[in-house]
Amino acid sequence: MSAATPFYGPDVEALIGADPEVAAMLFDELARVRGGLQLIASENFASPAVLAALGSTLNNKYAEGYPGRRYYGGCEVVDRAESLAIERAKRLFGADHANVQPHSGSSANLAAYVALLRPGDTMLAMALPHGGHLTHGSKVNFSGRWFDVAAYGVRRDTELIDYDEVRDLALRHRPKLIVCGATAYPRPIDFAVFRGIADEVGAWLMADVAHTVGLMAGGAAPSAVPYADVVTFTTHKSLRGPRGGCILCTEELARKIDRAVFPFVQGGPSMHVIAAKAVAFGEALRPEFGDYALRVVDNARALAQALAVGGMRPVSGGTDTHLALVDLRDLAMSGVVAERRCALAGITLNRNAIPYDPEPPAVTSGVRVGTLCVTTQGMGPEEMREVGALITEAVTLPGSASRVRDRVVTLSRRYPAYRCISGESQKQTTVLPSEL
Ligand SMILES: Cc1ncc(COP(=O)(O)O)c(C=O)c1O
Repeated sequence: MSAATPFYGPDVEALIGADPEVAAMLFDELARVRGGLQLIASENFASPAVLAALGSTLNNKYAEGYPGRRYYGGCEVVDRAESLAIERAKRLFGADHANVQPHSGSSANLAAYVALLRPGDTMLAMALPHGGHLTHGSKVNFSGRWFDVAAYGVRRDTELIDYDEVRDLALRHRPKLIVCGATAYPRPIDFAVFRGIADEVGAWLMADVAHTVGLMAGGAAPSAVPYADVVTFTTHKSLRGPRGGCILCTEELARKIDRAVFPFVQGGPSMHVIAAKAVAFGEALRPEFGDYALRVVDNARALAQALAVGGMRPVSGGTDTHLALVDLRDLAMSGVVAERRCALAGITLNRNAIPYDPEPPAVTSGVRVGTLCVTTQGMGPEEMREVGALITEAVTLPGSASRVRDRVVTLSRRYPAYRCISGESQKQTTVLPSEL
């Protein structure tokens, strides 16, 4: 086992002693992330304070219901945690109402649909192959099975959302709900235009900002809150919190959303996760988080430019977010092969369909890269240029893996993930996220 400890819970020795097999996996995972570059656009490194709340005894408490209205006794402490998370989420985003109980982004979306739709109703959302999410109406997901879904995409020439098409489809299908937000779209979404279209056809507007919520919180991306009736997001991506979901909504919809989350979609809330969400919202309220969000976007721009130099064309010409989607066709390369070659060199990223991709989803013509983790580690645009060069070498020179890996390890050692934890001290330390 390495010297560094991945634990934050009250008794590190307990797991090592009770289950060395699982303990070894935790050590190995920390070594894995430290030994490479993590460029998955939906991943981040939550702070030690967030991980401490997750590894706490709040895990044990059953608390069906909401603060002050529980179906179990002994909820006076967890009520404080949930009320604090709600209050901080509302303050962070300027929202009327927040529900912090969704176990994930998918659960948040399911609850939002339950609150606004009935099975068989029509919704309009972004097509999966153009950057939408599975929960936005894919046939393999509940959303595509239970609702009648019309899908919009991006224009072939600009690779930007085709707002004319959105409006035409809305006028033709008269959806009860319009969903905006995406999982692989590198440019800002014009929430005001979506609001106008929704008003024109009398639809609800939902913004799923799972990816960009941290940029929104930090002022590096436009906010959906003034425009959307319901805003859903995950807390573990750009917000750098625990794995989970959250819903913001207008006062008008508050009761419907709360009842959709519990008791319709979920049972008991995960109180340790809710406490960790409160920690993450608290971190995001600090000015340093705004600096982090801006650095994330600067880094993504620098990385996209460096990849373009290497022959990988950024979809839409670049990025204004934390992610870039790159088209590998000029290199006669598929996403799946690029992903594998990068993995061999210690660079973790994912293959991703590009708009109008001629290849099937398991192959793809693109990869998606994100700068959430590397920015948390403290890297800047100069390092992103190096990372772009390393990816280019790994992808274009098949025999280069071990040489690239050595440089990846050197770079990661200069900016170690979780530098604040070491084997010498297993005490919990409260470290500002920017110091991670
Ligand atoms: C836009 C969007 N919505 C929802 C989700 C679902 O989140 P989860 O994986 O927590 O269910 C994701 C996850 O990647 C996403 O990108």
